[in-house]
Amino acid sequence: MIKDISVKQLKIGMYIEDMAASWLNHPFLRTKRLIKSEEEIKKIKHYGILSVKINTGKGIDTDQPDDVQDLSQAAAPDPTGSEPEVAKPISSGPNETPPSAPAASTDTVPLRDEMTRMENVYQDTLNKARIFLNQAKNGEPIDLEEVSANVDALMNSVFRNRYASSTLIKLKTFDEYTYTHSVNVCVLSLTLGRHLDFSPSLLKTLGIGAIFHDLGKTAVPQEILNKPGPLTEEEFEEMKKHSLFGAKILKNTVHISREIIECALYHHEKYNGLGYPKGLKADQIPFLAQVISLADVYDALTSKRVYRGKVSPHETLKIMYGNRGDHFNPALVAKMVKCLGVYPIGSLVTLETGEIGLVADINPDDLIHPQVLLLFDQHARRRSRPEMLDLSIQPHGSEEGAHRIVEVEAPEKRGINPADYLLK
Ligand SMILES: [Fe+2]
Repeated sequence: MIKDISVKQLKIGMYIEDMAASWLNHPFLRTKRLIKSEEEIKKIKHYGILSVKINTGKGIDTDQPDDVQDLSQAAAPDPTGSEPEVAKPISSGPNETPPSAPAASTDTVPLRDEMTRMENVYQDTLNKARIFLNQAKNGEPIDLEEVSANVDALMNSVFRNRYASSTLIKLKTFDEYTYTHSVNVCVLSLTLGRHLDFSPSLLKTLGIGAIFHDLGKTAVPQEILNKPGPLTEEEFEEMKKHSLFGAKILKNTVHISREIIECALYHHEKYNGLGYPKGLKADQIPFLAQVISLADVYDALTSKRVYRGKVSPHETLKIMYGNRGDHFNPALVAKMVKCLGVYPIGSLVTLETGEIGLVADINPDDLIHPQVLLLFDQHARRRSRPEMLDLSIQPHGSEEGAHRIVEVEAPEKRGINPADYLLK
């Protein structure tokens, strides 16, 4: 039975199904948990959570004495040990992961170095995107070899540093949306794919599927694509056809696999079955298309369009998290937040002390305490010399969470261009 209780009633052995708190207010990306120690209860109270939902089928009830149930039997342990498991496509063949494939958990190049290195690769991939989109538009065969080499280069970058390419694409504006969107969705999908421990060959398929996901837009009239306002019902029906158009173009391209065609065809399906073109639901939607759908929406919202301004990466993740289970696979959204950080690099944050700074790097094991480049002091005065502060290192003798972020705002509001600080 699911029961609402006050945190004051929390005991060791209870199984929490949900916490009545925003995901931003506490550090537990996985709210479902068996309480195993007083320390955990203290932590939940510390983050200001007032009530929780407990599952009495998986843990003890409020009226059960603490020692009634052996903890080892109180609940089936979560098989992942972290967030809900994400079903991954079966793909690993004996030759798929070369011995030299880098471990997913390590970065070999520092963030800034990789962003500098990545700039040329990104620019070159944009040039290729312009070429293949024009080839598709003119009904010419797409030069797959060229695209494939660029996806390899983007993949290598994601393995050298997990945050560099996804940060770079949001710090700088390189070209018009049509081209940047294809490449950005590719970069973001590869970043998420690395986080999901995809094998190199599956990542490659994902990358090519992502770069071609909107290929069908080349067959949609320009006035609909670039309309500076909401589409009429008829126009939207026309726009929706791009997933079918894309699949058709790819079917006629040699060496394109079924998985890649499915990325174009199904990237607008929604987890609740209310997407298009087929209204597929949950696991019916091919897994790679689910990953691309997340990257697609993230890039679209964080990009400036003719009809609206851009939404900050932090706000975008919040919106997407709010749509988990409706638009997106909930386990995948949780993975995406873990992958990009609760406060993505480039976010302007205010600390409890009143100091303001830019998130300059992420601590993968402590997402709510990133590294911040302090630009303003506690009186909101511009610092003459920015200073780096690692929020995960708490001041000596302070309570956990002393270096706490209390607000996120748009850097432009304070005349800050994050690229000026993070790319130099
Ligand atoms: Fe699309």
